[in-house]
Amino acid sequence: MSRIDCPPAVIVLPMCRLIPYESHHADGVIAVVRAVHDEHGFTWEADGYHKDLYDVDRHYLLAGMFWTLVDGERIIGCVGVTLHGGECELHRLYLLQEYRGRGLGRKMLDESMTFGRAKGCHRMIAWSDVKLGDAHALYRKVGFVQEGERICDDPDESHEYGFWKEPL
Ligand SMILES: CC(C)(COP(=O)(O)OP(=O)(O)OC[C@H]1O[C@@H](n2cnc3c(N)ncnc32)[C@H](O)[C@@H]1OP(=O)(O)O)[C@@H](O)C(=O)NCCC(=O)NCCS
Repeated sequence: MSRIDCPPAVIVLPMCRLIPYESHHADGVIAVVRAVHDEHGFTWEADGYHKDLYDVDRHYLLAGMFWTLVDGERIIGCVGVTLHGGECELHRLYLLQEYRGRGLGRKMLDESMTFGRAKGCHRMIAWSDVKLGDAHALYRKVGFVQEGERICDDPDESHEYGFWKEPL
């Protein structure tokens, strides 16, 4: 498989840019996701539930996309999409706590949906821990429907809600 074409960087706030992921972002992206997991008391599992973040190229860029949100040089957020025929899945939508409530999460989600549509997807799905109510409010705001639940195979046996949006 070849690496897919990367879209250009998107300006979202004067100092904040959503840019295609590059390998040198790895430590910063992991730090963001880990900070949010610590905030919620979730267990970190580098060789298990979080292993996608240690090999973003293989997990996302070969069949999807991953973006890094930066404020100047600081990595403050991320989001990924995987493609599955006419359906795509949203992954790893995370933003540092001090940047929330300013539309950045919405911008990352919008960019993910635009990417999915451009790749011919008519439906997007997402799974999200039941504790992440802000994300669920955002999903509902952009038209996702909440449906289904699952218990994940992670150290916390996380309880997640399913969401879908169709048409995308
Ligand atoms: C989910 C997350 C990315 C949202 O980012 P954000 O930048 O704070 O969200 P936005 O400012 O773009 O909010 C967009 C909309 O989402 C909803 N929303 C966001 N935070 C909300 C909150 N605390 N209460 C109610 N609604 C909220 C609102 O509808 C808001 O629209 P509004 O601006 O018209 O009120 C961020 O809260 C986050 O990183 N949370 C922790 C990680 C997480 O839950 N990730 C999801 C994994 S599935």
